[in-house]
Amino acid sequence: MTASGKKLQVVVLLSGSGSNLQAIIDNIGSMPVEICAVVSNKADAYGLARAEKAGITTCLLDHKTFPDRDSYDRALLELVDNFNPGLVILAGFMRILTTRFVNHFHGRMLNIHPSLLPKFRGLHTHQRALDEGETTHGVSVHFVTEELDGGPLIAQAEVPVNADDDADKLGSRVLKREHRLYPMTIRWFAEGRLKLSDDQLQLDGKSLNGPVIFKPNQDIPLS
Ligand code: GAR
Repeated sequence: MTASGKKLQVVVLLSGSGSNLQAIIDNIGSMPVEICAVVSNKADAYGLARAEKAGITTCLLDHKTFPDRDSYDRALLELVDNFNPGLVILAGFMRILTTRFVNHFHGRMLNIHPSLLPKFRGLHTHQRALDEGETTHGVSVHFVTEELDGGPLIAQAEVPVNADDDADKLGSRVLKREHRLYPMTIRWFAEGRLKLSDDQLQLDGKSLNGPVIFKPNQDIPLS
């Protein structure tokens, strides 16, 4: 449970398959977390179907029906705020968010990104890692700030690059690690172990001056 004895209310934002949402749903039993809504900017996002199957409220807010980013983000902020979430989880939400939105949820919005940040922000991270001849790739979870795929890094899981890898093979191994790293980090936050105050990360009452790193053969604990 959270410090107040209540479950942390969480809103998940996504644009696509929602396999990270599924990993959170699958592990929710061991977390003091309740997903109060899943919001997508895309009608065909499979993540919406996953949420419905799990009995979670879904909302579609299609960015194409708004004239610009600012008006979309104002509507998104209002929609998300209506659920009064303690945490907003970006799970493959493929939109750049306005400063207003990011600042509103400062310290209570997480993102997962398929690279070892600060390397390979943006798209096509697996192909770019291969093109750069990286021998180690991976995934990062961080608090969201204005910077695209930026903000204080909480945890990373490394994935070795194999000689016969293509972007799909590498990406699917990274995704497997995502499905453990995100639920773990969310649980840390929900249990009050993880905090961002004055732009300083704290884990278990101690300053975190760099992400917690999980090496390729290291297990990522889920409970
Ligand atoms: C995941 O690989 C996530 O790390 C990435 O989108 C994918 C969503 O997959 N996020 C970003 O690239 C954010 N910049 P999913 O819909 O199956 O969870």
